[in-house]
Amino acid sequence: MAFLQIADLSATYGRSPVLSGVSLAVEKGEVLSLIGPSGSGKSTLLRVLIGLLPPQAGSVTLAGQRVDYAVPAALRALRGRCAIVFQQYNLFQNMTVLNNVMVAPLKIKRRPRPEVEEEARALLGKVGLSAKLHAHPSELSGGQQQRVAIARALAVKPELLLLDEVTSALDPELVQEVLDIIRLLAQEHMTMIAVSHEMGFVREIATKVALMSEGTVVEIGTPAEIFDAPRSERARAFISKIIRAH
Ligand SMILES: Nc1ncnc2c1ncn2[C@@H]1O[C@H](COP(=O)(O)OP(=O)(O)O)[C@@H](O)[C@H]1O
Ligand SMILES: [Mg+2]
Repeated sequence: MAFLQIADLSATYGRSPVLSGVSLAVEKGEVLSLIGPSGSGKSTLLRVLIGLLPPQAGSVTLAGQRVDYAVPAALRALRGRCAIVFQQYNLFQNMTVLNNVMVAPLKIKRRPRPEVEEEARALLGKVGLSAKLHAHPSELSGGQQQRVAIARALAVKPELLLLDEVTSALDPELVQEVLDIIRLLAQEHMTMIAVSHEMGFVREIATKVALMSEGTVVEIGTPAEIFDAPRSERARAFISKIIRAH
């Protein structure tokens, strides 16, 4: 069984079905990229995986263990193994950069402060923000805030990192500094699921690409298979549209 196995997953918002019968497998060290039109369920899939929206049916198995989303203790355990970064960085505005990165290991993992602080400083160094440890989010650019958000996600030492359009809210000149960090994580074999509109970047770092449409996975393959030789009509239509847009 794959490191992450998603089988026949369905979810609804109220009565409207949003995901139906999604099955995907991600091996350790792989980068799965989710692409597809707006509203196709990419964010919802990430929200279900991290336990923000209970699945209606189907199963998620992480490292051989089925995730029981109905059990609070299982959800807490999941949040220690899996982290998410959103488009809108969602940093704690009243906390310094350093404290933003320390909060989860202190509160969720209940680890000793000196050790947590040392790791947080190292992580902020990794994302190029050693000079901003004591700044507040409002004093940073969008790219810097997103890099803090990535450091904060890494602070729990996740086995799986979920990225939801992490560069979409950024000014164009700030996109690269965030992509550089994700590229570095991919090189370090961090297992990731990344929703992205940066198709060049997806092609470069993804080991697998899944195309979603109307809450289902339409096609899955290597970047070359999906971008150069899409099999289904829906995939061909989507790919030709994004290629024309770039
Ligand atoms: N909080 C919500 N309540 C109700 N419907 C939602 C909510 N969030 C998203 N949806 C709907 O679910 C569908 C999938 O949305 P989403 O997962 O955000 O798509 P994507 O990330 O691919 O753009 C869309 O039809 C959207 O309108
Ligand atoms: Mg989305």
